[in-house]
Amino acid sequence: MKLLEPLVINGMRVPNRVMVPAMVTRLSGEDGFVTQAISDRYVRYAQGEVGLIVVEAMAIHGSNAGPLLRIGEDKFIPGLKEMNARIHGTSDSKVVPQLIHFMKISKSGWRQTVDMLSIEEIERIVEQFGQAAARAREAGFDGIELHNAHGYTLASFVSSANKRTDEYGGTTLENRLRLIGRVMESVRRYVGDDFPVGIRYLADEFVREGYTIEDARLIGLRMAQLGADYLSLSVGGKFEDAVHTPGHVLHAYSGYSGDRCMPGAKYPPALHLAYAEQIRAFVRGKGYDVPIIAAGKLSDPRVAEEALVSGKLDMVAIARGLLADPDWVRKVRLGALDRIVECDYCNVCKQLDGAHMPVTCFLWPKGAMQAPAADDAAAAPNWPEGNAGITVKEGPNGLTLKWKKAQGSPTYYDVYRADDEGEMRVVDGVKTTMFTDSGLLGGMSYRYYVRACDATGHASAPSEVVHYTPPLPSAAVARAETIGVA
Ligand SMILES: Cc1cc2nc3c(=O)[nH]c(=O)nc-3n(C[C@H](O)[C@H](O)[C@H](O)COP(=O)(O)O)c2cc1C
Repeated sequence: MKLLEPLVINGMRVPNRVMVPAMVTRLSGEDGFVTQAISDRYVRYAQGEVGLIVVEAMAIHGSNAGPLLRIGEDKFIPGLKEMNARIHGTSDSKVVPQLIHFMKISKSGWRQTVDMLSIEEIERIVEQFGQAAARAREAGFDGIELHNAHGYTLASFVSSANKRTDEYGGTTLENRLRLIGRVMESVRRYVGDDFPVGIRYLADEFVREGYTIEDARLIGLRMAQLGADYLSLSVGGKFEDAVHTPGHVLHAYSGYSGDRCMPGAKYPPALHLAYAEQIRAFVRGKGYDVPIIAAGKLSDPRVAEEALVSGKLDMVAIARGLLADPDWVRKVRLGALDRIVECDYCNVCKQLDGAHMPVTCFLWPKGAMQAPAADDAAAAPNWPEGNAGITVKEGPNGLTLKWKKAQGSPTYYDVYRADDEGEMRVVDGVKTTMFTDSGLLGGMSYRYYVRACDATGHASAPSEVVHYTPPLPSAAVARAETIGVA
């Protein structure tokens, strides 16, 4: 499988093509030091054989930001070093930190924007990135990633919403790209050419003032020209459309661009893959073979493999899918796809992040702070007397399915649905024995079954299949008969 092929990135041998992109855990204190829980979180990915682990955004400077890792001073190095030693002692996963600079925000809804930064402050940012990169190298990371995405400082310079009027200003694309160029020079000065430096940036900002794929192709080319060792694509996550909750600081993921960044259950799988494909083709066409990585609902191994085989990507980034199941890669290697704990994109993790609460997964056992340890030999739950006794009932909120509690140790139930002749796919993971489907269209036929899953994804046999065809409204019946599709 292409997913399991190694990839060498500027001398860093990544054992497979799966990255866990940066995901804030809110497991650090306000002091920004590595805690046992943070170290455990990243070791868990190493146990699951994730190829490239990107440790959550860590601040290169001293601004307040609630619970967030920090790398702005030497005192943070020992904790990071210890965590990296544990990760490297666990498997041949590689690990890089995501280095972030962000501007000030206040509970009033006010936020600092790039046009408010003085030239001295810009110079300091350039230095701070270089110094943080040097600390990362000293702390035993295999490389670094620059956070040039979402609502943060570097991305806000590259953004077409940049309102500066000087040489770092939004008047030209070259001006917008000046700071990342300076930062790359500074980082190379501190860590040299032989240390992998990836850049995360946006394939589309998804805000009205923002840039789209048209600029993103050119930005990707420039990043390659600047010597980026990989490009990791994200989208959205901007402050421009953030929704302000009185009494709280603005959260960059609270508007539509935030929805696009961490797309929930209503969005289709692999929804941003076409952007990656275009950027990759464009940059390759200009002679640069920098690996292109992208995220966005790529947690179905078949979809991820196809993205690699068809040349749309060089590596897949899976955030929430690997939070749900850090053993994803190991299970793919073992051919145990059926045992993957499938992320249902409920976005409880996103809400926890926004509330500055420890980020966990809804599908984990209640109260768990980490994904449960792998247990290959556990017995799967089963249905009493061999069937789940599913009942269906139509109500004002849609179709409600109910079933019996499974025997064994069910932690959650995967609800599968197929439309007309389509394939059965998980539509939700629930912790009760009930599911309501409010998205059905009259005249379509639907089939459902349910599987009971234990904490590490061992699933019961599918329950009996139930069929349901909601009626076509009378206004559509005559037309359907006329054209012969009734
Ligand atoms: C809880 C949470 C925290 C995140 N924190 C970061 C972060 O620190 N830096 C970053 O670039 N992206 C962050 N992201 C975005 C993810 O890296 C990823 O791009 C996004 O979730 C889409 O990928 P997915 O569909 O595989 O989850 C975060 C996402 C989630 C759900």
